[in-house]
Amino acid sequence: GEVERGGYDHFMLKEIMEQPSTLRETMRGRLLEDEGSVKLGGLTGMDDELRQAKRVVILGCGTSWHSGLIGEYLLEDIARIPTEVEYASEFRYRRAVVEPETLAIAISQSGETADTLWAMREAKQQGATTLGVVNAVGGTIPRETDAGIYLHAGPEIGVASTKAFTSQVVVLTMMTIHLGRLRGTLSQSRGREIVRALRQLPEQVAEILKMDNEIRALAEQYKDSKNFLYLGRGYNFPAALEGALKLKEISYIHAEGYPAAEMKHGPIALIDENMPVVVIAPRDGVYDKVRSNIDEVKARGGCIIAVVSEDDEELAGVVEHVIRIPRTHDALTPILASIPLQLLAYHIAVLRGANVDQPRNLAKSVTVE
Ligand code: G6P
Repeated sequence: GEVERGGYDHFMLKEIMEQPSTLRETMRGRLLEDEGSVKLGGLTGMDDELRQAKRVVILGCGTSWHSGLIGEYLLEDIARIPTEVEYASEFRYRRAVVEPETLAIAISQSGETADTLWAMREAKQQGATTLGVVNAVGGTIPRETDAGIYLHAGPEIGVASTKAFTSQVVVLTMMTIHLGRLRGTLSQSRGREIVRALRQLPEQVAEILKMDNEIRALAEQYKDSKNFLYLGRGYNFPAALEGALKLKEISYIHAEGYPAAEMKHGPIALIDENMPVVVIAPRDGVYDKVRSNIDEVKARGGCIIAVVSEDDEELAGVVEHVIRIPRTHDALTPILASIPLQLLAYHIAVLRGANVDQPRNLAKSVTVE
């Protein structure tokens, strides 16, 4: 009822709005700023396995697979560990090779998703060390993994995952810092930069949430579109996938997420004035590259909503709409970029009269294969 929803119309909106505090809970007591490191109680006693690991395989489904893809980028970029993210349902049946000294990370909000659970069991049976990244306390995945980290984001009721996603990415960032420091691949000063950026996140998310009205107005304008394309590169390619998934899950509008540069190998054929294209373009290491992808869309008459850095002077004159987000470390930009895209999906769905908390055909947790 109304009380559990904290005065909001839907659990999804409550959970979006809660993110400054859920992110704080996820990081509470875990950041060691001076050391440029983190303290993860759930990984106590695992130092040998974490040091010796030759590769990481991340297993998940849906939104958890998207955070896993960010995890892959984090672990390779920052901790320099060969990593692959796998759809749990594919991993289990494709006779994947699990070498000894593999770390398998099962990501699951619920801790009960059958595909993820069985993929984790398969990895374990083949000799992997298993870690869980789970929100719901005490479920099957945390019980069966060798070790793990809880999100502490509180119960997520809306079927479309929001606060669990941002907390998953924060946990994966902290895990990456831990592994990088332990293995000597991440310097103290670089570690400190990321820890500092993590600490600023809750306030930055609160800033973005103040744009709710602005984003609702945007939703009014685009609610009748038949298709959406979401583009991003680097750390924001997974954010593009997640933005598209949120929209299709709750509004039933067809949406596709794509790596911005890969667009020219297919989806560019779809672009015309009726196709809104959401481009995630913060001032990060791939900004100039994304900028040229924006020009490619404009040249074909596409209509662009761009998520840009607060101080971006360039794109406002080029695209139809800009949504401004604060500056952060490159690796954390997908967290900030996801917030306005959650709100956009939410408002479009509400305006179309969809059942936001219980979308048709979807379940919060799928415990059958
Ligand atoms: C279901 C939900 C998705 C979720 C996925 C994985 O399909 O509808 O929102 O991302 O399961 O759930 P998990 O609990 O394992 O993260």
